[in-house]
Amino acid sequence: MGMADQASALQREFVEQLLLASDTDAVESLRVEYLGKKGKVTALMADLRLVPPEEKKEAGTVVNNLKNTIQDRLKEKAEELSASGYDRLVEESMPYEPSMLISGELGSFHPVTLVQRMCEEIFRSMGFTIEDYPEIVDDFHCFQALNIPEFHPARDMQDTYYLNNGQVLKTHTSAAQNSIMRKYGSPLRAVFPSRCFRNEAIDASHENTFFQMEGMMIDKDISISNLIYFMKTMLSEVFGRDVVVRLRPGFFPFVEPGFELDIHCLICGGTGCPSCKHSGWVELCPCGMIHPKVLEYGGIDPEENSGFAFGLGLTRLAMMKFGIRDIRVFNSCNLKALSQFVSI
Ligand code: FA5
Repeated sequence: MGMADQASALQREFVEQLLLASDTDAVESLRVEYLGKKGKVTALMADLRLVPPEEKKEAGTVVNNLKNTIQDRLKEKAEELSASGYDRLVEESMPYEPSMLISGELGSFHPVTLVQRMCEEIFRSMGFTIEDYPEIVDDFHCFQALNIPEFHPARDMQDTYYLNNGQVLKTHTSAAQNSIMRKYGSPLRAVFPSRCFRNEAIDASHENTFFQMEGMMIDKDISISNLIYFMKTMLSEVFGRDVVVRLRPGFFPFVEPGFELDIHCLICGGTGCPSCKHSGWVELCPCGMIHPKVLEYGGIDPEENSGFAFGLGLTRLAMMKFGIRDIRVFNSCNLKALSQFVSI
């Protein structure tokens, strides 16, 4: 394996372990494991002497970048833990009580949280920021700013929950597009995960409460090939191998052209099962080039800029990643089923 491959394998391994580190001791152990005297990155640095002279400069940069990334991530994580007061909470509010009965069971992250964090890391490493946005939004952001006017038939695509005050429960993460365009302008690269709500008929692949992760990249010369590159990279990183993908035309008023990106169902291997409605394909990540009107609503000049957007179905991705046949498991509170996924 070349230096670059070794470095990216180490980074992936590190990111997975960092996700699970829940206190500053765990963060410190990771620092020693990777950056300590006998650490994995230190060993990789020592191996640089074996690299042929003409490749040394490039290999050196790769390993240095890895070291800096790991250092930054460890620092961020340590700050995050102390900011959340987790360590203090453990120290102050849990005095040692020898007679207390404990169950001996460890907690675990929800599988959707695991894939969400994994995707965040992947996009963060490609220069995307991670944005947060409310679950209750107004009609303008959920529809009008996305080129879906008040009586447009496209509103029927999503069975919306309306609140008494006229606001809506976010039906899709695209509802944050306008605010994020206005926040950053062009160029921008951002992903924004969130829970979404639709008054759906529930079945093995449809829930009324599910998660999506939206992504947007806007700059001077963004084209469909950029979109395809990022989609392919994301999928191969998530699954750790190539998966069979199908791109077909799809209509969404806020993109032109628009696509549906489906993957071969990993539950049945594409032969057909209830998880893929017997089609062999799972609709995973519709995407497309942002419509000029939507850029304009976001305060970005469509003559000068272009961009892509995608709406990744995070809950469906978790189904495929973990081989969960029925989407209803995710909201079931069935700890026996949900707590098996301690790591990716
Ligand atoms: C949308 O929500 C668009 N906003 C996506 C988009 C963004 C298109 C940017 C173009 C550009 P759609 O309704 O198809 O599209 O949902 C996107 C994905 O969310 C689906 O492919 C699926 O993976 C997931 N999804 C949608 N509805 C449900 C549901 N009821 N239960 C679980 N997952 C769902």
